[in-house]
Amino acid sequence: MHRSKPKQASLTNISQALSVALGVRDSHTLGHCERVVTLCRELAIHLDFSERELGILAVAAQFHDIGKIGIPDNVLHKPSRFEPAEWECMKQHSVIGERIIRALACDHADEIALSVRHHHEHFDGSGYPDALSGTQIPFTHA
Ligand SMILES: [Fe+2]
Repeated sequence: MHRSKPKQASLTNISQALSVALGVRDSHTLGHCERVVTLCRELAIHLDFSERELGILAVAAQFHDIGKIGIPDNVLHKPSRFEPAEWECMKQHSVIGERIIRALACDHADEIALSVRHHHEHFDGSGYPDALSGTQIPFTHA
């Protein structure tokens, strides 16, 4: 009996599935990510990013908050200001997101995962998760 080769999901399929999962979990964050994709592309074009860099940035922008999937409802959907422990919990979304992207093992996964991990770093070092500053913050534009 002939067995057909099992179907493999493409990165596009996986990306669509992740977007659906994020939208089901938090529709507000999905809308935010879609706006960030547009803004990042416009900014990157002005910075002369290559087509390759624009592609990596688009995926990183689309999934920069994917780690919010792992944040408990009482924190993710809290309508008021976070208590310190809740804030520490929310800050984990960048680390969780990095783990999710690395698990995809897709082309450029390392660069995308770094962008996801460090999307809340601030130039003055006051950001998270690693309090990187200045040129310590990964930047993929050559
Ligand atoms: Fe974020």
